[in-house]
Amino acid sequence: MNLFDVYPLFDITPVKASGCYVWDSEGNKYLDLYGGHAVISIGHSHPYYVEFISDQLHKIGFYSNSVQNPLQVELATKLGELSGYDNYQLFLCNSGAEANENAIKLASFVTGKKKFISFSKCFHGRTSAAVGLTDNPKIIAPVNETPNAIILPFNDVEAVKKAFDENEIAAVIIEGIQGIGGIKIPDENFLIALDQITKKNNSLLILDEIQSGYGRSGKFFAHQYFEIKPDIITVAKGMANGFPIGGVLIHPEIKPWHGMLGTTFGGNHLACTAAIAVLDIIKSDSLIENSDEVGSYIMSELEKINSDFTVRGKGLMIGLEFTVPVKKIREKLLSEYKIFTGISGANIIRLLPPLCLSKKEADIFLGAFKKVLVDINLLLVDQVN
Ligand SMILES: Cc1ncc(COP(=O)(O)O)c(C=O)c1O
Repeated sequence: MNLFDVYPLFDITPVKASGCYVWDSEGNKYLDLYGGHAVISIGHSHPYYVEFISDQLHKIGFYSNSVQNPLQVELATKLGELSGYDNYQLFLCNSGAEANENAIKLASFVTGKKKFISFSKCFHGRTSAAVGLTDNPKIIAPVNETPNAIILPFNDVEAVKKAFDENEIAAVIIEGIQGIGGIKIPDENFLIALDQITKKNNSLLILDEIQSGYGRSGKFFAHQYFEIKPDIITVAKGMANGFPIGGVLIHPEIKPWHGMLGTTFGGNHLACTAAIAVLDIIKSDSLIENSDEVGSYIMSELEKINSDFTVRGKGLMIGLEFTVPVKKIREKLLSEYKIFTGISGANIIRLLPPLCLSKKEADIFLGAFKKVLVDINLLLVDQVN
């Protein structure tokens, strides 16, 4: 049987990883500024994480959601403490798309309404309702097209106010920072307006923190740079450092009923253990503070480079937007300097490294990046060093 060929693959086979480094099958060592697409939060193969999961596997790896699972309670308690949302409720599932799918369904249950507002260039996953809220025709199958999606320009308060005229809106969904859309940060007044408009109209505000959450932005959640309180927050990616899990944080006033949401694998013992280990390490290794400090350092160093790009981001979620395609820059970083980076569209390099990245590792990237810019004539050689 062949694999269903949906991914354009690099010709690299990673076989081991540690901290911010990955080794391929030929022994090459790569600096990972991509984090497996914002998934590696605490670094690869953290010894505490490895031991914690291995121990659990010797005890019990899975049983169904029809019995008590104290690991779910421990995870909810620790997540509440570290995120500042200790009075919220947690529903566990298996991925980001699934978290958003449940959030969408929940908002519709709670409000009795069915229309959703999302924003141009957003990405909320590839399940039916989530993909229906995006404006990327490449990923929407005919069955996903929905009259319930209202996709508005990003950061446009007036457009949102107008869409609420009919008061049929179950929820507004927005990323803490748009990831795939190109590291776009919502304006403070925009997020505050969304918070106020939804509250005034018996509608909910869903913050998709799947990429921007878990310390990536330099705060636990990116929206915590602003004074807002979403009704629902979705998480996944960095939550268990690569072990599949997703979560929906739900306002205390939203009441569940038995059977309202459900899943077979969600919240299983092994996934909860991985997610608890991640929270323990984020706290013990001060990774949110590190994300803020090293991210600010990288951005300030990048801003000193006099070339053809602009920098934006928060913490270790950084976008470098060029006026030209970045494919060559990314390829050169990888093949000549053994540095993994991400991209967004044709013109944006995305940096999403593990949150334990050191300034020394950041300097390795900065040095290589300048040399690549010189090589492709986007920087004068005398600006390197
Ligand atoms: C903001 C955001 N939401 C949702 C998702 C979907 O997550 P998953 O791929 O785990 O389904 C992603 C994945 O890239 C994402 O970046």
